[in-house]
Amino acid sequence: MSQKIKKAVIPAAGLGTRFLPATKTVPKELFPLVDRPILLLIVEEAVRAGIEDIVIVAGRGKTAIEDFFDTSYEVEDKLYKDGKESLLAELLRIKSLANVISIRQKEAGGLGHAVLAARPVVGNQPFAVLLGDELLVSQKDEPTATAHLARCFESSGVSTVAVMEVPTDDVNKYGIIAHQGEKDGVFQVSSVVEKPRPEQAPSRLALPGRYVFDSAIFEHLASVRPGVIGEIQLTDGMTSLAQKEGLNATRVPGRRFDAGDKFGYLQASIELGLEHPEVGDKLRRYLKDLASRIG
Ligand code: G1P
Repeated sequence: MSQKIKKAVIPAAGLGTRFLPATKTVPKELFPLVDRPILLLIVEEAVRAGIEDIVIVAGRGKTAIEDFFDTSYEVEDKLYKDGKESLLAELLRIKSLANVISIRQKEAGGLGHAVLAARPVVGNQPFAVLLGDELLVSQKDEPTATAHLARCFESSGVSTVAVMEVPTDDVNKYGIIAHQGEKDGVFQVSSVVEKPRPEQAPSRLALPGRYVFDSAIFEHLASVRPGVIGEIQLTDGMTSLAQKEGLNATRVPGRRFDAGDKFGYLQASIELGLEHPEVGDKLRRYLKDLASRIG
């Protein structure tokens, strides 16, 4: 039996250029889906997988992320005095969800560099990585994507990452795996190519931003040479890991939204809006009416 996954790393240092000007002062990870920041949903996904320590790797101009998981005396005091108990309880719940540990990535060195920045906190334990702008929403009664990967790791002892099938035209947006075949829903990864051209892609199995790694990944990331734009790619570290220690990939439960993309963010807002207890019914009626008007 392998070690339990108790730590997760959430890289959230990107500048969010796809969302400028909004991201000039507000981190995209804190954009709301109705009334909950994207990052909260990601932290909750990790917590539902049994994770206790969450390392958020952010950069300059993103201190609002740390503040979100901290106490706000003014807000809490106001809610208390106004008798808004359930809202206050929700704020207190969020603060105690997990130990949130904040790390600064001092330069934009790529996703691999961001994960490596968490090494002093993670140490030699296996850990999960959840990208801060990728949303995987699972139903209440199904495991989260991270929980599924954690259980796979715990039973196999092999680092395991999530994959999803994408159309050929989209392979150049993702890390794509090459594999040696599938057994019981698990692919044995031989290498990972970052954003290949469609004609060079080894498969259509893309990484949607959920990973569980043995701590050996740090050694591999530390020895990866920065690519053409000076960045350390997580996928290069994964290829090295796959060749030395082994790497599995598996499909994960949940609807996936690229919440760092304008269209993906709108889709997530609508779908989660439809499920929201306060506004869901109203939004459904509105969308039906809108659809009949715009045809
Ligand atoms: C990153 C990773 C890529 C992964 C993708 C998922 O790319 O480098 O391997 O498939 O996230 O969103 P980015 O979207 O940051 O360019």
